[in-house]
Amino acid sequence: MFDGQTILITGGTGSFGKRYVKTLLQQYQPKKIIVFSRDELKQFEMQQEYNHSCMRYFIGDVRDKERMMQAMKGVDYVIHAAAMKQVPAAEYNPTECIRTNIDGAENVIRAAIDHGVKKVIALSTDKAANPVNLYGATKLCSDKLFVAANNMVGNEIPRFAVVRYGNVVGSRGSVVPFFRKLIADGSDSLPITDLRMTRFWITLQQGVDFVIRNFSRMRGGEIFVPKIPSVTMTDLAQAIAPGIDMHEIGIRPGEKLHETMCPMDDSYRTIEFDDHFVISPAIRFYDGDMDYLTNAVGEAGKPVSQGFSYDSGSNPWFLSVAETQQLLAVAEQE
Ligand SMILES: NC(=O)c1ccc[n+]([C@@H]2O[C@H](COP(=O)([O-])OP(=O)(O)OC[C@H]3O[C@@H](n4cnc5c(N)ncnc54)[C@H](OP(=O)(O)O)[C@@H]3O)[C@@H](O)[C@H]2O)c1
Repeated sequence: MFDGQTILITGGTGSFGKRYVKTLLQQYQPKKIIVFSRDELKQFEMQQEYNHSCMRYFIGDVRDKERMMQAMKGVDYVIHAAAMKQVPAAEYNPTECIRTNIDGAENVIRAAIDHGVKKVIALSTDKAANPVNLYGATKLCSDKLFVAANNMVGNEIPRFAVVRYGNVVGSRGSVVPFFRKLIADGSDSLPITDLRMTRFWITLQQGVDFVIRNFSRMRGGEIFVPKIPSVTMTDLAQAIAPGIDMHEIGIRPGEKLHETMCPMDDSYRTIEFDDHFVISPAIRFYDGDMDYLTNAVGEAGKPVSQGFSYDSGSNPWFLSVAETQQLLAVAEQE
């Protein structure tokens, strides 16, 4: 689907963006891949690794509508990955987070519409479901903007969809590198905010592959949620350092005991497929009867029962310590 096409990735120098570029170059022959982000050093470093003739590096801020417009010219597909995503930084600098995550989303939508982009997928997070922190709340606003954007173009392109998933194993600033650093620094006990805490886990490559598949599956307006395993924080600590002591430090502001991907209140519009869920739009679009029970590649889903919730605490798929070690090893080799 990406052969001969021009693809723009906002936040293309981030963990997700780099892996997405790598995968595109391995599996397709794109006409152009445009990496759009602010920091020239990250782009310079990425250019050393990815210097294929189809690569273009654009310095720009998603908050800057004019620049977004320039970058989107001639683009066929957009992956919107740029975000301010550190929970404490977002709480401390709320306006900055709102500008990047909400105003930035709006600019991506406007530019995609103006330039007749075919499809756009925006990345979301489990923190956007029933959010308790500003990062999650801004990503929920972003999700709503992308879903509603399908209304602005009637029966035309672009079509917009959202992909929502949980913690990426080993991503920058996450708990896995944090625990590893503590151990490397000689800690003999790992801090656990709450011994009951659970999280969803996905590897970077699984996230990238899921996004690629959903470009084919999407009709427009879906929030795609992969079925992925949960791990307790205590099992994660034991997987990283078997037998290590753990001490509870108390849940932090803006943190949940368990994360949700499909909230109970959305169960009436959630559809289960073999390996994922789709939350269909709460609003009706131009033709009013889009069939989300069968996706664009013919896969059939069924509505979940009323009151169903997909959260990391009640997830039927939990990894043991040994399985978590395998997941960490897979993520490291990817
Ligand atoms: N990592 C996870 O565990 C996780 C889980 C679920 C969902 N997600 C979502 O996945 C997406 C990608 O995450 P990631 O882990 O790849 O993040 P990341 O490694 O922190 O990368 C973020 C990227 O966004 C760019 N960026 C930030 N602010 C920008 C702005 N105002 N304008 C243009 N570019 C900007 C950054 O480059 P510059 O700083 O140079 O601009 C960087 O390229 C995010 O939307 C995040 O919410 C991540």
